Amino acid sequence: MLKNKKVILGVCGSIAAYKSAILVRLLVKAGANVKVILTADAANFITPLTLATLSKNPVYTQYFEEETGVWSNHVELGLWADLMVIAPASANTLAKMASGLCDNLLTAVYLSAKCPVYFAPAMDLDMWKHESTKNNISKLLSYGNQVIQPGSGELASGLFGEGRMAEPEEITAYLSTHIQASLPLTGKRVLVTAGPTYEAIDPVRFIGNHSSGKMGFAIADRFAALGAEVTLITGPTAQLSNYELNRIDVVSAADMLETCKAEFSGADITVMSAAVADYTPVTRADQKIKKTNSEFSLDLKKTTDILATLGTLKTKNQLLIGFALETENEEEYAKAKLVKKNLDLIVLNSLNDKGAGFKKDTNKITIFNKAAEKTVFEMKSKSEVAVDICNEILKLL
Ligand code: CTP
Repeated sequence: MLKNKKVILGVCGSIAAYKSAILVRLLVKAGANVKVILTADAANFITPLTLATLSKNPVYTQYFEEETGVWSNHVELGLWADLMVIAPASANTLAKMASGLCDNLLTAVYLSAKCPVYFAPAMDLDMWKHESTKNNISKLLSYGNQVIQPGSGELASGLFGEGRMAEPEEITAYLSTHIQASLPLTGKRVLVTAGPTYEAIDPVRFIGNHSSGKMGFAIADRFAALGAEVTLITGPTAQLSNYELNRIDVVSAADMLETCKAEFSGADITVMSAAVADYTPVTRADQKIKKTNSEFSLDLKKTTDILATLGTLKTKNQLLIGFALETENEEEYAKAKLVKKNLDLIVLNSLNDKGAGFKKDTNKITIFNKAAEKTVFEMKSKSEVAVDICNEILKLL
């Protein structure tokens, strides 16, 4: 959940600041890009050098760094972040945040940030129990911030009680759970097919096509980023996913059909972007075919249309999305396939469009829905096209 997330970690003056080093380490290990802001007091507890080394980013302590002459733009930093975590959050900083004071870089970035903000309080037990702290926290929650509750135990003062900052592992677990829960497709299961199929002629030859699998992998990755549990059934490809998916590798159209049939009933959404062979050899030679004759022909038979088969199995709670790759009468053919295969959406690729087609990093699509309404998209990178396709599907949910 934290992979590729841009995180601002704000550290306040508290003995718990020593745990920030471990927190940065865990965030970076989870794939996040972390920028740390220290208050002046925090820098007495932990050095900027430690956090800069662990985060692999410069550490910010004030608006204007005299030594380097660099001005830290609080608005830019606030807008850069996908999420902001203030850990440890001292009683003083919580009070400033609650009343909108911004007399240091950390509180100014907090006030400028548009992303979700999480804070992990750390203070002595009587400060934690104080009515003003309670009021400040209620105010911060009413502004939409999230509190990561402190634990109980021995405090720096030697007293025992509540106020110890949550452990770094608890903070990262809280963030992951919260991000996961806020994604639109959490709890949904998605099936995506990608790549070509190979139809064997003999042990060394096959009939294939130019599909690289790029579009299907981009769609699977986008669904995973939206929180869905994704099963990706792919034909032979060198493509890799950036997410943890349930990837099932298949070779032929017949393999893909059987695997799709086995997986389909569990899927809320199915997107069939694989370039499945329409014909396969009637027989597969057991041994390599020798070039004895001057001419050679192969008998082919039609493969089962997987998408159409799933269309007959579809229940009213499932969404089924297909592709149409056309070279002429594009719109007519696409709309006819949508009806014939019982689809909810069809994504049209016209090979007449520049930037669309096999092996390219770009694609140009038009999407038709059941009411035959069409949405035309510009030529974009395949990952941007995946975002468009998923957005159209989200509209149907
Ligand atoms: N498809 C499939 N099984 C097949 C052939 C195609 O599931 N045996 C799916 C593809 O994954 C795609 C859609 O059908 O989502 C349309 O594929 P396309 O090649 O455009 O069209 P076909 O239906 O095969 O028809 P034609 O080749 O006659 O255009």
